[in-house]
Amino acid sequence: MRIGWFFLFSLVAHSTNVSAGRIEGCEKRLCENTPTTRGCWGQYSIETNYYTTAPDTGNTVEVWLSVEESICNQDGYERPCMTFNGTMPGPPIMADWGDTLKIHVTNRMESNGTSVHWHGVHLRNSNEWDGSRKLDVGRITGTTVEDINVRLTHTALFQWTINSSSLVLDWNKPTLQQIFDDESVFPTPYNVVEVEKTHGDQDEWAVLVIENTAATFFGGIAHPIHFHGHDFWILAQKNTSWDGSSTSFQTTNPVRRDTAVLPAHGYLALAFQLDNPGAWLVHCHIAWHSSMGLALEFVESQDSISVRRGHWKTLDQTCQTWSAWSKGAPYLQDDSGI
Ligand SMILES: *[C@@H]1O[C@H](CO)[C@@H](O)[C@H](O)[C@H]1NC(C)=O
Ligand SMILES: *[C@@H]1O[C@H](CO)[C@@H](O)[C@H](O)[C@H]1NC(C)=O
Ligand SMILES: *[C@@H]1O[C@H](CO)[C@@H](O)[C@H](O)[C@H]1NC(C)=O
Ligand SMILES: *[C@@H]1O[C@H](CO)[C@@H](O)[C@H](O)[C@H]1NC(C)=O
Repeated sequence: MRIGWFFLFSLVAHSTNVSAGRIEGCEKRLCENTPTTRGCWGQYSIETNYYTTAPDTGNTVEVWLSVEESICNQDGYERPCMTFNGTMPGPPIMADWGDTLKIHVTNRMESNGTSVHWHGVHLRNSNEWDGSRKLDVGRITGTTVEDINVRLTHTALFQWTINSSSLVLDWNKPTLQQIFDDESVFPTPYNVVEVEKTHGDQDEWAVLVIENTAATFFGGIAHPIHFHGHDFWILAQKNTSWDGSSTSFQTTNPVRRDTAVLPAHGYLALAFQLDNPGAWLVHCHIAWHSSMGLALEFVESQDSISVRRGHWKTLDQTCQTWSAWSKGAPYLQDDSGI
């Protein structure tokens, strides 16, 4: 897995190290750090668009993580919890921008399955490692400065009015598996929205307008909406109802994020590029809200989703082991697991 934003997070902590020549192929210094600035990393800087540009250090960081049951005391009360290596949060993973991360996860919990998902990493053309079927961990969001114009011509527009249809999928039959088995009709509880490019190789955008008009108490509170597989550009984020037009959309240099707040009784209009075929989740990052219905899945450019042979074998084995184990699992599935 090639890392995107993840590394930036750790770079901030030891950026002098990097500008001292850690990144190969960095003969020319375009900028220098000073005692008060840390935004420059040789040929790269805080302003480099990591969507399109990344160094290759040729270095691989290999990490072993163990998922364990433990007792945590986060707020003054002890209670059972899941941890990485016995602590919450788990041990930090330190890598430089351009390194390859190889992470081995062992589940040592007695009676629950789990999967691990990476934040801040787009997993471009490697949907199979999104791992968000059952558990979603970690949270690193960021932004860079760039000039962008979101082109709204030929743009697919989707509207998601928050409802209470919970996303529930069969863990023995994840969406990708279903796609590879050529079962093109997704079960309703998978909450799938299909998105296809209509103009071949050209850059194409999709716009998702999420409206928070639920009559339940969900409508009266704000929700942190998180995207998998993409960053998105915030076209509008308002505390009023949407008038159905693009009048309120800011399309020149909008803010880029992978999580943004949907205001109470309001709407959020997000644009994203159709550049990463896969099955990707969009959900509120408060786990139980997600469980109550604030989650949907985009199946993007279905026919272009590919999984490398070796990866598929690993996935298939994991699924088979899961199928065999889950038949006798002590707990029944009670939500999407997101
Ligand atoms: C986590 O624990 C495993 C053994 O349980 C150990 O091998 C590994 O090095 C630990 N990982 C980190 C990042 O500390
Ligand atoms: C395992 O799952 C059950 C049912 O969801 C839950 O009650 C229990 O706390 C879980 N155990 C851990 C360690 O998360
Ligand atoms: C709720 O929203 C999801 C995602 O748009 C959709 O798939 C589902 O059919 C909707 N349910 C209802 C009852 O409108
Ligand atoms: C809605 O947003 C406007 C402008 O940002 C602000 O003045 C107003 O107080 C907000 N209303 C509510 C109910 O939050």
